[in-house]
Amino acid sequence: MQIKSANFVKSSQKWQDCPEANLPEYAFIGRSNVGKSSLINAMMNKKDLAKTSQTPGKTQLINHFLVNEEWYLTDLPGYGYAKVSKVQRKDFEKLITNYILNRKNLVNLFVLIDIRHTPQKIDIEFIEWCGEHGIPFSIIFTKADKLKPNAAIKNVEHYKNELLKTWDGLPEIYVTSAEKKEGTEEILDFITITNDFLKQNNVQFNE
Ligand code: GTP
Ligand code: MG
Repeated sequence: MQIKSANFVKSSQKWQDCPEANLPEYAFIGRSNVGKSSLINAMMNKKDLAKTSQTPGKTQLINHFLVNEEWYLTDLPGYGYAKVSKVQRKDFEKLITNYILNRKNLVNLFVLIDIRHTPQKIDIEFIEWCGEHGIPFSIIFTKADKLKPNAAIKNVEHYKNELLKTWDGLPEIYVTSAEKKEGTEEILDFITITNDFLKQNNVQFNE
């Protein structure tokens, strides 16, 4: 996909404040610091479209970006951020789950996972939660440049096996590096195909 335009639209504190749900929307979710904002910038070929930080917990609001005037890319706050109070963490979780359950134009959720780690309980639980609620999702492994190719492959295989313990099939899986701009085209191809399908079938989101 050629990115002709990518513009920040707004930051919202809750799903009710998000831009009108009239275009297909794709959202990035994952633990704090996993690389959501960096990957959005890599996909959009813009350095500072989404704010990134070495300190976890940078993205605390729902950020909407409008791409090619056709679809929304959404940067969600990271879950599992340890350095906030329990109450604050619950508030974040609520903001995220409410958004996912109520956003009518959300076509696909991309769950980002740091490729360096063994499967973490919080991610597996979140993926289970998506399954229970019938949320369509794909998995994106991030920071692939931080591992040697063989180690990356091994970790992805390990993750797949972990998922297959509870799932009959596997979701779409992407291996990416924002640093090296790897894997971004594949994600954009998926979005192109999905948008075309929605168009051909005249899918309208507004009730
Ligand atoms: P929150 O907004 O806090 O939830 O974090 P986030 O998931 O948006 O992470 P962000 O994109 O801000 O990146 C976190 C840190 O990881 C930054 O220091 C990035 O430079 C680094 N990082 C992100 N993606 C990559 C990558 O593909 N390779 C490498 N080497 N570093 C990365
Ligand atoms: Mg972020």
